[in-house]
Amino acid sequence: TEAELERRIWDAKQALGDRVLILGHFYQRDEVVKFADFVGDSFQLARAATTQPQAEAIIFCGVHFMAETADILSKPQQAVILPNLAAGCSMADMANIDQVEDCWADLEALYGTEPDEQGRVPVIPVTYMNSSAAIKDFCGKRGGIVCTSSNAHTVLEWAFERGQRVVFFPDQHLGRNTAKAMGIPLEQMPMWNPNRELGGNTEQQLNEAKVILWNGFCSVHKRFSVAQIEQARAEHPGVRVVVHPECPMDVVDAADESGSTDYITKAIAAAPDGTTFAIGTEINLVQRLATQYPQHTIFCLDPVVCPCSTMYRIHPGYLAWTLERLLAGEVVNRISVDESVSEGSLLALERMLAAKP
Ligand code: 13P
Ligand code: SF4
Repeated sequence: TEAELERRIWDAKQALGDRVLILGHFYQRDEVVKFADFVGDSFQLARAATTQPQAEAIIFCGVHFMAETADILSKPQQAVILPNLAAGCSMADMANIDQVEDCWADLEALYGTEPDEQGRVPVIPVTYMNSSAAIKDFCGKRGGIVCTSSNAHTVLEWAFERGQRVVFFPDQHLGRNTAKAMGIPLEQMPMWNPNRELGGNTEQQLNEAKVILWNGFCSVHKRFSVAQIEQARAEHPGVRVVVHPECPMDVVDAADESGSTDYITKAIAAAPDGTTFAIGTEINLVQRLATQYPQHTIFCLDPVVCPCSTMYRIHPGYLAWTLERLLAGEVVNRISVDESVSEGSLLALERMLAAKP
């Protein structure tokens, strides 16, 4: 039963004490979040993975790319555990390293490799945290950097100080929304299509490009629409519409604000009592915020429940199992990033952590 499972998790967690650190992403279900030592967005969780060097194991309740990042940033002797190995991210899977290398070869053929008079290289590769370690490594080894939804603007500024243009993997929406907010016109953001010569773009489009986008997206955030925002405004005059920047551009433009899961959480916490919020992000977070802040009216923009199905694969049963195995001296479901890609990934992640806001 649920109560038994809960007891088992508490018992194992208590017995392990400081030997284990449990991290939980905001999108995890409440039955998992309640056991987390730290709950946050992907940037905060990457930082949190470095804070307890004495813990033998970090159990990461989130998705695969987050656990990989925790493994890269934590101490080598610490084991990072993903309770269910099937918890991936469909967006991260949309950029594979072979396609990215092909794209890069084409960009090098087009733009060359020589810096301009200001010392800026032709292209800086930037990858969203939601990508495999192989892509982070690729970026790190070519002078590039990682970003999350909470620092994409800062990271793009960092990149434009060092490069004439950026290629951005894999989320087209975060790339486009961030570049647009920085004043880059849409005509200067061609999208790379890995199946066609020049990515389906003319040479002129690519010559004028400032940000070359990748054709990736989040299937959860893609569901939000301008029609939903219009309906929320009609039904709730004065509603504050806050969406995640993984939403399509027209949705971000129609919303009042956009920001990472941490931004959304803080916006709600800081609002005067009685505020009505329509939120465009994953349902587990929206429902938790609605419960935590009963003084506000908080609902999800999408009336049909939209969970992230892969985040949801972290069932409390898996958490109980990994904790109990650990207590018995066995590490199961360990995520170990191969040495061949961890060096470049670390470089790209450290550049992100050092980039000034
Ligand atoms: P955050 O960086 O806002 O936590 O988002 C991660 C994510 O996967 C959103 O879909
Ligand atoms: Fe990936 Fe979207 Fe799920 Fe985030 S919400 S983990 S981007 S599929």
